[in-house]
Amino acid sequence: MNLILLGAPGAGKGTLAAYLIEKMGVPSVSTGNILREAIANNTPLGAKAKQFMDAGQLVPDRLVIDLLKDRIAEDDCKNGFILDGFPRTIPQAEELDKIANIDCALSLEVPDEVIEGRMTGRRVCLKCGATYHIVANPPKQENTCDNCAEPLHIRKDDKAEVVKSRLATYHEQTEPLKEYYGKQGKVKSIDGTQGIEETKRLAEKALGL
Ligand code: AP5
Repeated sequence: MNLILLGAPGAGKGTLAAYLIEKMGVPSVSTGNILREAIANNTPLGAKAKQFMDAGQLVPDRLVIDLLKDRIAEDDCKNGFILDGFPRTIPQAEELDKIANIDCALSLEVPDEVIEGRMTGRRVCLKCGATYHIVANPPKQENTCDNCAEPLHIRKDDKAEVVKSRLATYHEQTEPLKEYYGKQGKVKSIDGTQGIEETKRLAEKALGL
């Protein structure tokens, strides 16, 4: 299955994707993670993306479309993939339609007022990419990654003022994708305000897993 996860920043796409990788046996492709890695490695792509990401704006379509095309052309995506954070605009979705057949766009519905708490409580491991939440999904040992024992970090774009801008960008440029995929009969929506375990259960049910 080729699956897209739609939802506002902090809706829980990455958390659900990490679970679905095991369940579906396909990789998850997060354009946000690829871009953060490029910034950490000081690549030319990272240098171009940084200013946009720090400001809570989208990275220009051309850069993201090219990196996504390269990534899903890799061998591990041959039997399907989960897209987390792509597409984010109608032009990105149109380009994706030219190169892949999307089976489902699963939309995690979480209102803006819930998002703020998700972002301020998020902690990430820069080494393995694991995501935690200080209340909803705390690590076993405070501020330490369960997988690799590295200290956890707060993402730069999780500052309150940047979150505001990311939400505005989401409503303006990404939310219209629900209508785009809705017209193709591919949207399934679930309530993303429940706990992490309940959200996994709702997703499995919606996807018939
Ligand atoms: P990206 O990394 O994709 O960020 P995002 O879409 O804004 O999503 P997040 O990673 O913030 O949240 P999430 O939905 O994955 O939630 P998570 O599972 O972590 O993009 C970052 C930036 O890169 C963009 O702003 C843009 O600049 C650029 N970019 C990326 N892709 C692009 C594209 N295609 N085009 C252009 N630019 C692009 O959960 C959040 C927190 O909540 C965690 O702490 C988690 O533990 C907790 N949580 C999760 N689920 C639940 C639950 N059910 N109940 C309670 N807590 C929960």
